[in-house]
Amino acid sequence: MDAIQIEGGARLEGDIRVSGSKNAALPILASSLLTAGSSTFHNVPALNDIRTMCRLLELLGASAEFPIKKGKTADRHVVRLTTKAIKDTTAPYELVKTMRASVLVLGPLVARHGQARVSLPGGCAIGARPIDQHLKGLEAMGAKIQLEHGYVVARAKRLRGARLVCDIPTVTGTENLMMAATLARGHSTIENAAREPEVEELARVLNKMGARVRGAGTPVIDVDGVDELHPIEHAIIPDRIEAGTFMVAAALTRGNVLVRDCLPEHLDAVIAKLRSAGATVTAESGGVRVRGPATIQPVDITTQPFPGFPTDMQAQFMVLATRARGQSVITETIFENRYMHVQELARMGADIMIDGRLAVIRGVPRLTGAPVMATDLRASASLILAGLVADGRTEVLRVYHLDRGYERIEKKLRPLGARIKRVKGRM
Ligand code: EPZ
Repeated sequence: MDAIQIEGGARLEGDIRVSGSKNAALPILASSLLTAGSSTFHNVPALNDIRTMCRLLELLGASAEFPIKKGKTADRHVVRLTTKAIKDTTAPYELVKTMRASVLVLGPLVARHGQARVSLPGGCAIGARPIDQHLKGLEAMGAKIQLEHGYVVARAKRLRGARLVCDIPTVTGTENLMMAATLARGHSTIENAAREPEVEELARVLNKMGARVRGAGTPVIDVDGVDELHPIEHAIIPDRIEAGTFMVAAALTRGNVLVRDCLPEHLDAVIAKLRSAGATVTAESGGVRVRGPATIQPVDITTQPFPGFPTDMQAQFMVLATRARGQSVITETIFENRYMHVQELARMGADIMIDGRLAVIRGVPRLTGAPVMATDLRASASLILAGLVADGRTEVLRVYHLDRGYERIEKKLRPLGARIKRVKGRM
């Protein structure tokens, strides 16, 4: 298994480019099941999760070209999906257990193919993560839902429009129901919908396919069902969480970094907290520049659904707090078990006390390098950041977690001066 080794202490300087958004690309690739034909998506991040989604779509009968061959070369950031003949409607446990986002084929399959058999995702490192809201919404649209042998089996001749009220603003739940509603008979309203930029981006794609979605990005989404959708060509928005991670790296290392190709309007809450920590953050043409402060200020954070502070940036900001002059309090409100990185940071000398969803972080003068274990995607990003400022060498193990959401992070950070490399054959 790969590991990543970091010699800490370098001040990061220069430009770094953000890849396409993982959490926008996954539902968009799944939405191709709503059409019959070939769609082409650009600016797709070259990540394991994207490969998993392509494999799942191929199992269902689509053909997936990723990367796209161009003469002797290949474009690693373009996916072409052809969904003429869907021959199977089962998303198997073997794939779903490796990537919960596989559940995003549920809505499109029921809406266009009248049935879906999708393995229940089960729990994950950061929380129970049930999909009751996805199922409740599909049932309200007339789907017959059964749970059998670990699978959700959903059937409907044709879904019908309905008023769907989510108990919580679930991101993939909103995406699944929005996709399903595009081919339902009649009008649907999704209330208390998630407002994340990835939901808005999916609505943009669906409307490009011929759907009638209004209000994405607000708590109420309206969808007028249509009879069919057509394939499209589309370039995916940049990854706001990857961008935010690089911004924290600059702030942490007293750096001066231009984060290219990110959209500042997707990062308001993150940028506000970076400024509270003392960083200088300025929008420039082509990106956002972050200059790290000489002294990091403590910052209190409560994770919230968008436009609040994203839970996917909580672990990264915890590292910033470990080096702040004073005490910070973080409250994780979205997932019940998203502090797996705390024990690993403690191994590096961090002073963090956990009490349920609350974390109290007392800044320390230094972190020291150590072998540490990645447990989930964003936790692994926080260990990379800690390694950048720790004295000596840090070795982050099990980086397969990281590779699910960060494209060759060591190759992106090295030109900024980071002393970082990937090593093979670690347990
Ligand atoms: C999406 O997950 C993202 N994943 C997650 O990013 C992100 O952390 C999360 O939204 C919150 O922003 C993708 O977009 C692929 P939710 P999702 O449904 O949709 C509860 C990363 O690091 N809930 O909005 O699964 C749930 O348990 C990943 O890139 C129900 O109770 O999250 C959680 O507590 C990690 N019932 C809360 O709602 C449901 O039916 C929010 O979850 C659905 C959700």
